Amino acid sequence: MKVGVLMDKMDQDHILEVQDLTVKFLMDEGTVHAVNGVSFVVPAGKSVGIVGESGCGKTVSSYSITQLLPKSARLTGRILFRERDGQVTNITNLTPDGKEMRRIRGKEIAMIFQEPMSSLSPVHTICNQLSEAMLQFQGMTKRQARTRAVELLQLVGIPYAERRVDEYPFQLSGGMRQRVMIAMALSRNPRVLIADEPTTALDVTLQAQVLRLIQDMQNEFNLSLVLITHDLGVVAHMVDHVCIMYMGQIVESGPVKEIYDDPKHPYTKGLMNSIPKLRGRRGERVVPISGSVPSAYAVQTGCPFCERCPERSKRCTQGIPQRVKIGSEHYVCCHLYQSGKEEQDVINA
Ligand SMILES: Nc1ncnc2c1ncn2[C@@H]1O[C@H](COP(=O)(O)OP(=O)(O)O)[C@@H](O)[C@H]1O
Ligand SMILES: [Mg+2]
Repeated sequence: MKVGVLMDKMDQDHILEVQDLTVKFLMDEGTVHAVNGVSFVVPAGKSVGIVGESGCGKTVSSYSITQLLPKSARLTGRILFRERDGQVTNITNLTPDGKEMRRIRGKEIAMIFQEPMSSLSPVHTICNQLSEAMLQFQGMTKRQARTRAVELLQLVGIPYAERRVDEYPFQLSGGMRQRVMIAMALSRNPRVLIADEPTTALDVTLQAQVLRLIQDMQNEFNLSLVLITHDLGVVAHMVDHVCIMYMGQIVESGPVKEIYDDPKHPYTKGLMNSIPKLRGRRGERVVPISGSVPSAYAVQTGCPFCERCPERSKRCTQGIPQRVKIGSEHYVCCHLYQSGKEEQDVINA
């Protein structure tokens, strides 16, 4: 029996479930509370956006799923993954550099990172890097892998693919490198694609192209997508479901249209107001969220957003708000929506 198989239950339609994930880093200076009880699900073939400002724990959450965290990390919770045969593997039970985890990273859950140069090898040709998973996990010959590598480069829109396949990453522009990263992820025939701020390092026109490419690839290969970004505007047309993250917690989650049309959490409202294009009408002011994200060293005793919240009340400092269901799939963690909200004394509206 594989480790973690048969012992964990998850919804039949889900390919990934993250349940109450916490990640801490034990540092000389103290403990960094990077992820504080995050739960979300990815239905097979669907897309989920994880959105929040820098430092709120998006990358640490995604690295937990593929077990790429440094040794100083301490993780609790469960990450359930549905295998091709329907069985469930609890990823948190696997050894990070063991055979099972390498199999999952090699052909099940692929990642695209923010900065392609840090994940592409500078000393290997693109062909060698694209072929790796095909040779190791798909039993291809070198010639077959090369043919597929060229096909993949063509698929992600790299011109002169037959020539480019023998080049090194430094010979390509930033946009082309990000396309190679996407091709590399696809070379694994994965079922889940995690894209961690895949366009942040690119200029605006390239951002749109790369996002379109990711969307096309998701449809073409029926991938389940986790799209991580600090920009709520980016996920608007790309995902089915959004999780809004703040200080290591998901403060609101729901179907993308519902979150856009009717954001409930003051932080989500703030993110909405800080998107220039989305609010549409010309002349409308873009309002950044005041203040900055507090230190992740601090232990939270109240709502994590309290200090910056325009709707805060006395009770917000006194307890962490529970998750409340406010729509069939819409949840919010905010004292405004806990029972007895009418009695709240809004001190800074
Ligand atoms: N290797 C690490 N050691 C210590 N702290 C870390 C490490 N990686 C991330 N952190 C901290 O964890 C928190 C979440 O980081 P991260 O997930 O990278 O944020 P995001 O991706 O949302 O910008 C931050 O406070 C960050 O400083
Ligand atoms: Mg990040």
